[in-house]
Amino acid sequence: MKIAVLVSGGGSNLQALIDAQNRNELGGGILSLVISSKEGVYALERAKNAGIPTLVLSRNEYDSPKAYGDAILLELQKEDIDILVYAGFMCIVEGELLRVYKNRMINVHPSLIPSFCGPGFYGLKVHEAVLEKGVKVTGATVHIVTEECDAGPILLQKAVEVLDTDTPETLQKRVMEQAEWILLPKAVRLLCENKVTIKENRTYIK
Ligand code: GRF
Repeated sequence: MKIAVLVSGGGSNLQALIDAQNRNELGGGILSLVISSKEGVYALERAKNAGIPTLVLSRNEYDSPKAYGDAILLELQKEDIDILVYAGFMCIVEGELLRVYKNRMINVHPSLIPSFCGPGFYGLKVHEAVLEKGVKVTGATVHIVTEECDAGPILLQKAVEVLDTDTPETLQKRVMEQAEWILLPKAVRLLCENKVTIKENRTYIK
């Protein structure tokens, strides 16, 4: 299975996928393309260091989520990509891409969906809201991407304890280390091994 990864920032989740591929833990999946929504982000360096072809499709060069989705779809079809992974990708896409890659597109979100998710909940803002609310457990979720933000069928989740001493930064780092970087490679492996079925907005792992 050929995998494309969409990025917008530091690329720590991309790095987790690269490291899993190097340990032969992606179920035979091959990281074949990294598309960034921004120039100059460290995720592009990580891809280049791993010998993965990269492409920048700057979000501000497209006038709608649909136009942006169409541009991404074109590149994916050129490379015969099978699976699409959002890894720290900060853009909403719409249109044909969501239909063509239905149930073959996943995202990692840094909370236990349906808590602290949806429009405006991304990056540090998620952890600020977690600390503000005072919950004692948070975590990360890998879900299937659908047209509604952070609302697709949940694939994997992992809980992480919130400490009284946490700042948004310390919490983000622990959620990445203890949850995101473990769940995303595992989810990609399950898809590459065809072990995921989806019925009525629920996933079932064989
Ligand atoms: C992380 O908080 C991740 O959960 C979210 O984007 C942030 C940056 O991820 N999806 P990365 O380091 O660019 O992979």
